[in-house]
Amino acid sequence: MKIAWMTDVHLDFVDRETVDALIARLRASGAGAVAITGDIAEADSVEAHLETLAAGLDVPLYFVLGNHDYYGASIEAVRKRMDRLCSRTTSLCYLSGSEPVALTPGWALVGHDGWGDGRAGDYARSPVMLNDYVHIKDLAGLDKQARGERLAALGRQAAEHLHRVLPQALALCSRVLLLTHVPPLTTACWHQGKTADDDWAPHFVCQSVGEAILEIMAAHPQQQLRVLCGHTHSEGIDRPRPNITIMTGAADYGRPAIADTLELD
Ligand SMILES: [Fe+2]
Ligand SMILES: [Fe+2]
Repeated sequence: MKIAWMTDVHLDFVDRETVDALIARLRASGAGAVAITGDIAEADSVEAHLETLAAGLDVPLYFVLGNHDYYGASIEAVRKRMDRLCSRTTSLCYLSGSEPVALTPGWALVGHDGWGDGRAGDYARSPVMLNDYVHIKDLAGLDKQARGERLAALGRQAAEHLHRVLPQALALCSRVLLLTHVPPLTTACWHQGKTADDDWAPHFVCQSVGEAILEIMAAHPQQQLRVLCGHTHSEGIDRPRPNITIMTGAADYGRPAIADTLELD
């Protein structure tokens, strides 16, 4: 089975013609499924864009959301909307609210948005102020310490989901594909060929998810995990353990593209 992977497509930056061209490329790829690792659009348009993609494809579309998908709303409101969307559109599957999916006899699929959880690098000294901290209701209007606590809680929530579903997936199949938006380790947080420094890592790494996958895969040394993520818009590959490969996908605003096509046997 072939799976076409896209990340950070930011479809709110392009016109309908560009979306239709993307759908045509996905259909021409011959993929039996499509995976999206977040930053699809913003809160007011993500649902409509997912419906457009689903209507144009005749294969399942598995996705997680990125920070931009929450701009203009609260995290809970958008996640609830996604769960409702996926219950009425059977080809769409939001992995943050889903059980493991058996893609092939050998490969299971899990996922969660993840979140830049303030735990990698040096949050206290970092001068970085993301638009997230203004445009997402849960994070707006907080002082730095309160925001750090909120970010850490979002990371823990992602890790808790993976502590539940990843062992279940490993019981189903020898290999697991994990979709997440935020790179789970600093060593996977690529920007133009380098990994994030202490100022950027707090906002661009989900350390709690990284710790979860390292712990779970150490207990399953004969099995393989492949992680697909985005958020940095720069590509790179990291192998933090012999049985974990993390692929971070490139993206360009205004030019949504297939990041890679994976063959799963
Ligand atoms: Fe993005
Ligand atoms: Fe992002």
